Amino acid sequence: MNILLLGSGGREHTIAWKLAQSPRLTSLFIAPGNAGTATTGTNIPVAVNDFPAIREACILHRIGMVIVGPEDPLVNGIHDFFLADDELRNIPVIGPTRQAAMLEGSKDFAKAFLQRHGIPTAAYGTYTIETLTDGIAFLKRLEPPYVLKADGLAAGKGVVICPTLEEATAELTAMLSDAKFGEASSKVVIEEFLQGIELSAFVITDGVNYRIFPEAKDYKKIGSGDTGPNTGGMGSISPVPFARGNFLEQVERQVIRPTLEGLKMEGISYKGFIFFGLMNVQGVPYVIEYNCRLGDPETESVLPRIQADFVELCQAVADGTVNQVGMELDSRYTASVMLVSEGYPGSYEKGREITGLDEVSGSIVFHAGTKTVDGRIVTNGGRVLAVTSFGETMAEALEQSYENAAKIKFEGKYYRTDLGFDL
Ligand code: AMP
Ligand code: GLY
Repeated sequence: MNILLLGSGGREHTIAWKLAQSPRLTSLFIAPGNAGTATTGTNIPVAVNDFPAIREACILHRIGMVIVGPEDPLVNGIHDFFLADDELRNIPVIGPTRQAAMLEGSKDFAKAFLQRHGIPTAAYGTYTIETLTDGIAFLKRLEPPYVLKADGLAAGKGVVICPTLEEATAELTAMLSDAKFGEASSKVVIEEFLQGIELSAFVITDGVNYRIFPEAKDYKKIGSGDTGPNTGGMGSISPVPFARGNFLEQVERQVIRPTLEGLKMEGISYKGFIFFGLMNVQGVPYVIEYNCRLGDPETESVLPRIQADFVELCQAVADGTVNQVGMELDSRYTASVMLVSEGYPGSYEKGREITGLDEVSGSIVFHAGTKTVDGRIVTNGGRVLAVTSFGETMAEALEQSYENAAKIKFEGKYYRTDLGFDL
């Protein structure tokens, strides 16, 4: 089968790498891809939200399945676009419809869904410009710090945590009155602040059956010891030591099953991946957020541990037979260290030559922000490369990744050297 994968980050290189191991794959196309995905298939210069161009590519390359990496095209309705087109209708899209992707596309929708189905989540209120004074009154009833979330997609920047009531009031006003995040903050969710350790859980579902993927921990802050601004993610580890046994059973019972049953009960068909951003609050798994896709950089440590054929697994989503695919896991640890451009998550230079990739041994290098220019691989984003390794222990996996991270060179290379410090 020919497959089209949408996206261009480390998550997509990892998915492409996994798909390429399947004997069921004939040709893999990645739109738009990066220098890493180009080694696993053919990159095509089509943007993930350019649905007419994606349509043409599907027809031209006789695509039998589309796998969607990022949330944007899902929230914009790519799945619905395929269902509404006579020539595309029979091409399965792995990723939910627009309505189901609202779990990520609207924080207010997600919070109301969580409450309706009795799934542990922080207390909240949703406010608009008309109810700004109620929002300020709600803030006054909460303890600091204050969590404010733009309702819509805001490229991962829509969550603001304010230490004081004054700052929270100013932020709420900026979001609602000054459209700080544009249309995305025309509604704002205010949440009670939760204290605990975060982890990411994932399922793949055909709408009826599901399979749980290995859990992972993502390191979001730019600086050592979890300091400084949030990034897209500076690395990941799987499995998560504190999340063994009983806690994962609770996640399945209190979060995963009620979510899937809730979707069914509300008549929302969901085919694809669900990412549960969780916080372990004194042993109870609270949902911080839903995402309608896999995580990045979690995918870089999660997929290498899954032994199933990824083409078979995605085909099973289309066929409604996810329960029939074996889910054997590699029992070793994986650790993925993200190499980023100096300046990230603020502004940074692109186009810096990357060398030393051929000196890496015993790790897998997944490309995130890279591209090929005249045969040279250069940086093309804030997050540049993810170095993933296996180990019998978490420390061993990390050590291997760090050893190889040091061999890769580009001007302004930065990475966190303390991953796993909290586990
Ligand atoms: P999100 O974009 O929803 O993943 O939120 C970004 C980050 O904000 C999360 O990873 C958490 O670290 C933090 N966060 C979100 N909601 C809460 C909350 N209710 N309590 C404490 N921290 C939160
Ligand atoms: N690693 C967090 C995310 O993918 O949203």
